[in-house]
Amino acid sequence: MSKAAPLRLGVNVDHIATLRNARAGAAPDPVRAALLAIEAGADGITAHLREDRRHIRDSDMARLKAEISKPLNFEMAATDEMVGIALATKPHAVCLVPERRQELTTEGGLDVVGQHNALAPVIARFNDAGIRTSLFIAADPRQIEAAARLHAPVIEIHTGAWCDAITDGETAKAEAEWQRIVAGAALARSAGLEVHAGHGLDYATAETIAALPEIVELNIGYFMVGEALFVGLAETVRQMRAAMDRGRSKL
Ligand code: PXP
Repeated sequence: MSKAAPLRLGVNVDHIATLRNARAGAAPDPVRAALLAIEAGADGITAHLREDRRHIRDSDMARLKAEISKPLNFEMAATDEMVGIALATKPHAVCLVPERRQELTTEGGLDVVGQHNALAPVIARFNDAGIRTSLFIAADPRQIEAAARLHAPVIEIHTGAWCDAITDGETAKAEAEWQRIVAGAALARSAGLEVHAGHGLDYATAETIAALPEIVELNIGYFMVGEALFVGLAETVRQMRAAMDRGRSKL
């Protein structure tokens, strides 16, 4: 039996909203998806309220907070507007991400080093409000050390470059990215940070990364919403949970 901390699965429901917004109506409902994911074993729900509201809407965030029984992770850019909405919503946690209007998804990690002065008061306000702040960063030692200096309780390591390299068959790059993640998770933990990871994960990569004992939460969305089309969301959550448990049991 593994002695590592349990590994939580946060299900990101943004792309249920993407599908709904394709027809600008009410279905499929991301809150219904969140409730189903929790029933099937998700430990929390993540949703990203973007400045352009391309998927999650303000009303989705309010309903998620009101209706789900597990922690809500409110993903957002550190703008005045979003800080105000998050403080009013009072989620369990916020995850601060960089945001560019033209990007398809959150392409890189937050530059915590360069934005230290802008992020410090935001993190302090959330700390005062009892909302845990997670900084979504690359597994770069400078960024990790800056996150610790900012007194953010949590970082989420951006796994996108690793996952993309695997998908593209770039073996050497994938191995280098993996080693960065391994070293980054250890450094962050030793600096007192809680370590999460996410972006681009599927069953195989979730199983691999589950074997890193420092990581206590994975946030996964796009792959799961795609799989749900074929096997249903509940079955997808169960299979992801099983993949993570297989990885964790290798410890
Ligand atoms: N974590 C963060 C901070 C993200 O921005 C995203 C993408 O919205 C995810 C996790 C989930 O990534 P994916 O949808 O590729 O699984």
